[in-house]
Amino acid sequence: MQISIEPLRLEDAAALVDAEDDATIRCLSEEKSTVAGTAEYISQLVRDAEQSRAKRAFGIWADGRCVGTVDFDPEVTDGLDTGDVNIAYGVAPWVRGHGVAVRAVELICAVIQERGVGHRAVIRTDSRNTASSRVAEKAGFVHLRDLQVLAETSEEGQPVVMHVFCRDLP
Ligand SMILES: CC(C)(COP(=O)(O)OP(=O)(O)OC[C@H]1O[C@@H](n2cnc3c(N)ncnc32)[C@H](O)[C@@H]1OP(=O)(O)O)[C@@H](O)C(=O)NCCC(=O)NCCS
Repeated sequence: MQISIEPLRLEDAAALVDAEDDATIRCLSEEKSTVAGTAEYISQLVRDAEQSRAKRAFGIWADGRCVGTVDFDPEVTDGLDTGDVNIAYGVAPWVRGHGVAVRAVELICAVIQERGVGHRAVIRTDSRNTASSRVAEKAGFVHLRDLQVLAETSEEGQPVVMHVFCRDLP
């Protein structure tokens, strides 16, 4: 499969809505997306970038089709150290298990490095999200620490634990 990442465009909104499922909603979008809402989110990212915000989001392309997103944000601080660049990602259910997310993370690390955005990339994963932790490990990240997210509880009423993974980008 040919995988690439490209800056998100308004035209990608419909593909991103198609690519969303309950797992993506839980981890990334928080509520069911619409094409109009996703287009507004992409426009907002562009406006934020013009206002010097550092977050950048990319579409993940597999064999010529936009199947997900990957983004970096050095302004995320929750559980991170100064200079860390947070990465988040999601891919469509029909391409999962084929290494798409791992490749997308490798590609965005190269962008972070090329642009000199930071010296360390970080991925935070909900400890119940085995697939996301595997993506981090397979992309060369190592487990740094665990965090308890007090604002969120599991179905059993326990605080959610997040794994923090990091990869140096010398
Ligand atoms: C997490 C996610 C991005 C993984 O994408 P993917 O393209 O399937 O990942 P890859 O194919 O690169 O596989 C990475 C590893 O995860 C494993 N994996 C995939 N789905 C899995 C699952 N449901 N349970 C356990 N492991 C799983 C793969 O087998 C692979 O590990 P392996 O080679 O040791 O077997 C995808 O499941 C997703 O979009 N989930 C919803 C959004 C999300 O959770 N984002 C993460 C928040 S940062």
